Amino acid sequence: MKAIITGTTGQDGSHLADLLLEKGYKVVGTTRRVSVDNTERIKHLLNNENFELVSADITDGSSVMNVLQKHDDAVEFYNLAAQSHVAESFKQPGLTWDITGKGVLNILQTLIDLNMHHVKFYQASSSEMFGASFDTEEDIYKKIGTMEKYQDENTKFLPQSPYAIAKCAAHYMTRLFREGYGLHASAGILFNHEGPRRGETFVTRKITKWIGDFVKSGRSDNFPQLRLGNLEAFRDWGYAGDYVEGMWMMLQQDKADDYVICTGETHTIREFLDVAFKHVDIEDWSQHVVVDPKFYRPAEVDYLRGRNNKAKEKLGWTPKHSFQDLVKLMVDHDTK
Ligand code: NAP
Ligand code: GDD
Repeated sequence: MKAIITGTTGQDGSHLADLLLEKGYKVVGTTRRVSVDNTERIKHLLNNENFELVSADITDGSSVMNVLQKHDDAVEFYNLAAQSHVAESFKQPGLTWDITGKGVLNILQTLIDLNMHHVKFYQASSSEMFGASFDTEEDIYKKIGTMEKYQDENTKFLPQSPYAIAKCAAHYMTRLFREGYGLHASAGILFNHEGPRRGETFVTRKITKWIGDFVKSGRSDNFPQLRLGNLEAFRDWGYAGDYVEGMWMMLQQDKADDYVICTGETHTIREFLDVAFKHVDIEDWSQHVVVDPKFYRPAEVDYLRGRNNKAKEKLGWTPKHSFQDLVKLMVDHDTK
């Protein structure tokens, strides 16, 4: 069994490569040309005889075609490549569109042009696509008098960033190639997922990395403060290692479909700060954190909390790590 992963050098790509190699797959991962070494997360795989790193950029259709032609015995294709940073997408909307939106069309069209219907395709869709949209749990409202908000596969999309708009286009394109061309193409609508391999400019890792550096400095009084933006947003945070299992499970189904992958719990950035600082015995973090408007976004996603009933029922997927486990795992990694 051979699988191709685009975005192998990223957080999820590296976890997915680990998972597939454990399951006995041969894995072909793509990398693009960058000016610094981008293989930090997959260093442990570079000498694995079942792992091959090949050059491709998903904005360059011919490079995608070369990979597919050379590896036409692949049975699964996971597209995890993206300009994945929401704040950056406001600064580089065109580039974000080219990679995160149009890049996906390049892959899907190439699969059709090469008549590779035997390849099952996974698209990394995102809870960011929901943006300002949510549904409410009327049933709970009737019981306890509060209206719980959530998003699932039936919630409409109301994207709030160039990134989310590009992801929506890619999501609908994936659906079109499934319905229109009969491709086994599934999209995982994944809520935020984190871990020690998370990029250092996403809020969770930015916090745990700062705590790690602060602790390693001997908790110096002169240590520069942690500068953050909006602390009031809610996110449904899970562990990346759990979420890549959901991706694999989707491609093991006879019928392609779309699934939400999430924990079902939501927490603010403040709550993340509470748990993270408490883990290094700091009860009051206010002196260490500065709110800097530089990190505010032109439009924000205020509230994300997923409902994973479909993934539980149809895939048998459940998250294994709690919010507390996740925060502690990341702080422990960064303090050591
Ligand atoms: P990540 O760490 O930022 O990784 C993104 C990957 O895409 C990197 O390997 C990057 O390569 C690669 N890439 C960027 N531009 C490319 C291009 N033009 N051609 C080929 N590869 C390119 O992101 P992640 O957290 O692992 O997320 C994986 C996917 O899931 C992304 O599509 C993301 O949008 C989506 N997603 C993530 C989350 C989450 O919470 N993590 C939630 C929902 C959806 P370099 O290493 O060279 O930069
Ligand atoms: N990055 C960042 N940096 N975010 C901050 C900061 C900061 O200094 N301060 C506050 N935040 C807030 C953001 O405004 C946002 O509300 C929240 O923290 C989470 O930001 P990120 O960690 O950057 O993640 P995201 O939710 O915008 O996007 C991530 O999750 C999406 C799924 O919902 C990315 O992984 C996307 O690729 C993914 O699709």
